[in-house]
Amino acid sequence: MDELHLAAIRTDYSLASLEETEVGDDPILFFRKWFAEAEHAQLSEVNAMTLATVDVDNRPHARIVLLKGLDGANFQFFTNYESHKGRQLAQRSHAALLFFWKELERQVRIEGIVTELQAEESDAYFHSRPKGSQIGAWASPQSSRIGSRAILEERVKQYEAQYAAQEVPRPAHWGGYGLQPLSIEFWQGRRSRLHDRICFERPDLAAPWEKYRLAP
Ligand SMILES: Cc1cc2nc3c(=O)[nH]c(=O)nc-3n(C[C@H](O)[C@H](O)[C@H](O)COP(=O)(O)O)c2cc1C
Repeated sequence: MDELHLAAIRTDYSLASLEETEVGDDPILFFRKWFAEAEHAQLSEVNAMTLATVDVDNRPHARIVLLKGLDGANFQFFTNYESHKGRQLAQRSHAALLFFWKELERQVRIEGIVTELQAEESDAYFHSRPKGSQIGAWASPQSSRIGSRAILEERVKQYEAQYAAQEVPRPAHWGGYGLQPLSIEFWQGRRSRLHDRICFERPDLAAPWEKYRLAP
């Protein structure tokens, strides 16, 4: 990889700082503040987050999904329940979410427990999606091997024909999850790698948050 000069790529962060007092005592409220700032800064894919899950052999897997709701402290995203991530979450409910808002020199790490949303919540979001995405949820057996792109496109045509004259129902294999955090870390880049890291942690979902600073 030498030809990429990877060792020489570095950015010094100097935009902002993060104080304990500024973060307050409610990490969800502070997440909302940072999210609003990221939106205001017109970052692209501001709600894109890495979702890390673990399989039964304790191997980690990571991919991007979109944050589609924050209901109280429940970070919500939607996917195929039979996908790799769906199968992993069915067996290992602990997961992690990660936002990197590079233009703001900020990272947010969220770790907690994932459960499926109520059917009505999944229905409500599914029916708010464009019809093409609804058809896609039927046509794509997410994370299954398929022989060709043509097979997928043929399946799309079939479902388009099937639902041409009616509302597309939500497939039972497609819906939402919510992650309830047990820890949240707010990271603000600083000069010379002396970044600010303010963390919140609770031993269970009913416990109060403990707040502390970690060394960068
Ligand atoms: C910007 C972006 C947004 C994405 N959003 C979602 C999403 O909200 N839900 C989803 O199931 N997959 C989403 N994906 C695709 C996933 O990253 C992944 O490829 C897919 O969910 C299959 O993952 P799995 O095989 O680990 O289950 C997104 C990918 C990108 C790059």
